Amino acid sequence: MKHEPYAGRRGALLEAIGDGVAIIPTAPERVRNRDAHHPYRFDSYFWYLSGFPEPEAVIVLVGGKAPRSILFCREKNAEREVWDGFRYGPDAAREAFGFDEAYAFSEFEQKLPDLIANRSALWHALGVDTAWDTKIVGALNAVRAQARAGKRAPAEIRDLHAALDPMRRHKDAQEVAIMRRAAAIASAGHARAMHACRPGMAEYELEAELTHEFRKRGASGHAYSPIVAGGRGACVLHYIENDKPLGDNALVLIDAGCELEGYASDITRTFPVSGRFSGVQRAAYEIVLAAQSAAIAAIRPGAPFIAYHDAALRVLVQGMVDLKLLAGSVDDLIASEAYKPFYMHRTGHWLGLDVHDAGDYKSGDDWVSLTPGMALTVEPGLYLRPGADVPEELQGIGIRIEDDAFVTTDGCDVYTTAPRTIAEIEEVMRRD
Ligand code: GLY
Ligand code: MN
Ligand code: MN
Repeated sequence: MKHEPYAGRRGALLEAIGDGVAIIPTAPERVRNRDAHHPYRFDSYFWYLSGFPEPEAVIVLVGGKAPRSILFCREKNAEREVWDGFRYGPDAAREAFGFDEAYAFSEFEQKLPDLIANRSALWHALGVDTAWDTKIVGALNAVRAQARAGKRAPAEIRDLHAALDPMRRHKDAQEVAIMRRAAAIASAGHARAMHACRPGMAEYELEAELTHEFRKRGASGHAYSPIVAGGRGACVLHYIENDKPLGDNALVLIDAGCELEGYASDITRTFPVSGRFSGVQRAAYEIVLAAQSAAIAAIRPGAPFIAYHDAALRVLVQGMVDLKLLAGSVDDLIASEAYKPFYMHRTGHWLGLDVHDAGDYKSGDDWVSLTPGMALTVEPGLYLRPGADVPEELQGIGIRIEDDAFVTTDGCDVYTTAPRTIAEIEEVMRRD
């Protein structure tokens, strides 16, 4: 059944809110310029609970002894459907997406006071969208104004994300299946870009190879602005211009993932434009690859989230010593953070509907412990910005290797498959 996992998630949230009421709007359509819109992207929390793709929609979950799951959405509109295409309308949406009730979005503000009256708590993501905050405060005040009629406004406003984030951090079977497909598509995109790469090309030509493969295989597009950075551009962590020619002897770093059914993949590969790693490129690449292997080996249930970063960092810092970027003991260099000019980000993050997915990393003062079903990225890097402290032959080298993994019962499952070792990369780039 199409709506089964979503109805199950709504049921879990209803349990979490007791006799409260939760309000979960989807994202607005966003203007790009004048009357042109960005492609529509729903809100991730709304999608997690509904799978409903249209804008102008909101879920209301009314907890208590007889819990109700309600959708407000656009009405059918024959004329608008000629211009903009199909819309479900409340009746068909209720049926297809398994809600108990569904109403026209235009009725939401009028119905909201009655839905929140006499509930102990109102759960909402305050501060995300001021237009929604205003609607909700308006409904609270409308209930308060009826106090003498015996209506009670919720005494507490609770953070909806605090209830949903722990759920989102563990992927269920449907999510795992989609994320594996997204990873397969993104892996094919990276392999395609490697295979197509030739000296004389520009960064945007490789971006086009990725976009082609993502769309050809049914992904909705990129999950985030792709980075295609030749040479020293790779040392700029958020480089997205992708407009430079590629140097014949340079490395190119591509950080790109597709979005499929709302879920992100997130892969980085770094490879030589020529198809063959030079000696120094090889030495630097092997360090990052070894750091990634150490990180992957440190991902297991019970390990604190930070453990795999620490494992990667030790290998990277030893590599910095071997490359004569730093001198001293690894422990001292880690303690003094002397490595930071060359490695300044964490080794990964949660992955899911958002590329930097929902969920805390700490619980109180302690790092969250990994448990089976979590999805995360493993992405060590080494960035040797041109400068006085970097030996001449290493200047401008930026390398990151990023894969996606699920925590399993006894370790982790790296489920991205783009060519990763030097031998694999050189093989897919071979011209003969
Ligand atoms: N592509 C975003 C990241 O790697 O975190
Ligand atoms: Mn990432
Ligand atoms: Mn990435």
